[in-house]
Amino acid sequence: MQEASKHGAAAGEAGRPARPDWTIDQDWDRYRPDEHGVWKTLFERQTKLLPGRACDEFVRGMRALPIGPERIPDFRRLNDVLSKRTRWQVVAVPGLVPDEVFFEHLANRRFPAGQFIRKPGQLDYIEEPDVFHDVFGHVPMLMNPVIADYIQAYGAGGLRAQKLGVLPHLARVYWYTVEFGLVLQPDGLRIYGSGIVSSYTETVFALEDPSPNRIRFDLERVMRTRYRIDDFQEVYFVIGEFDELLELARIDFAPVYARVSGKRDYEPGDVLASDRVVARGTGAYHAASRAKH
Ligand SMILES: [Fe+2]
Repeated sequence: MQEASKHGAAAGEAGRPARPDWTIDQDWDRYRPDEHGVWKTLFERQTKLLPGRACDEFVRGMRALPIGPERIPDFRRLNDVLSKRTRWQVVAVPGLVPDEVFFEHLANRRFPAGQFIRKPGQLDYIEEPDVFHDVFGHVPMLMNPVIADYIQAYGAGGLRAQKLGVLPHLARVYWYTVEFGLVLQPDGLRIYGSGIVSSYTETVFALEDPSPNRIRFDLERVMRTRYRIDDFQEVYFVIGEFDELLELARIDFAPVYARVSGKRDYEPGDVLASDRVVARGTGAYHAASRAKH
C-alpha cells in the first residue's frame, strides 16, 4: 500500500537487490501459470465491481492500457503506452523499498511495482504491495496528467520532508489521496485511491458501508490525521476535482509543516466542528472490531 514509514521499516538489507536503486528485472517469462491464475481471479472480480464505483479517470486509464485478465501485465508493454501518455514508467522491485529510494523513483516519474503476486490464500489482504495492487491499482491513474504530476511532486516533496524530519505528516497526505482518496463526481462519490480500487472488500466498504466518515479534503487536517494500516479506513477524505491535487503539488509545504508540527494528532475516527462532512459515519464497523479485541 506504499505507506511511507513502512518502506523503511520492512525493507531490510537482506532484501536489497544488486542495483542501488533497488530495481530488478520483471522476468515476465518466469511467471508460472498459477501466478497468472491469481491475477485473473483478482482482475475479474475487481473489474465486475468497479463500474459506477471507480472514477472516470481510472476507467479511461485502464481501457487505454495493455492490461487484461489472462496474464500479469508485461511492464515493457505497459511502459510503451504509459511513457507516451505521461512520461511515467513502471519499474520492478522485490517488494517494499526504503523511503529515499521510493521518493527518488517517484520524483523521476518511475513507479516501483512489486514484481511478485500474492498467494491464492491472500486474495483479500496483503501487507506488502504486489503486482496486482501496484499495477491494477496505480498504473491506470498514472495515465492521468494531473495525477502523474501530483505523484512526481510527492516524490520530490518526500525527499525534502525527510530532511526536515516531517515525513509522517507528508505520508498521511499520500495515504489519504493516492491510496485511499475519494472524488465527488457529478454522478456521485467515486474511488480514485489505489488501495481501495485494488481491494474487493474495501471498494464496497469505502463507498457503501454506513460506518466510515467521509469528509472533504483539507491539507492541514489530513496531515494531522493518523491512519489505519491493518484494517479498512475509518475516514475517507473527498476531493471535489483532480485539480485540487494539482494545487497541492504547487504548495510550499514548509510553512504548513511549521503550523502542524507540535499540534496534537487526530485519531482516524475523529470528526471536528471545522470538518466539511460529506457523510457522517456510524462508526459501527470499527466499534465492533475493537470490542472483539
Ligand atoms: Fe500503493
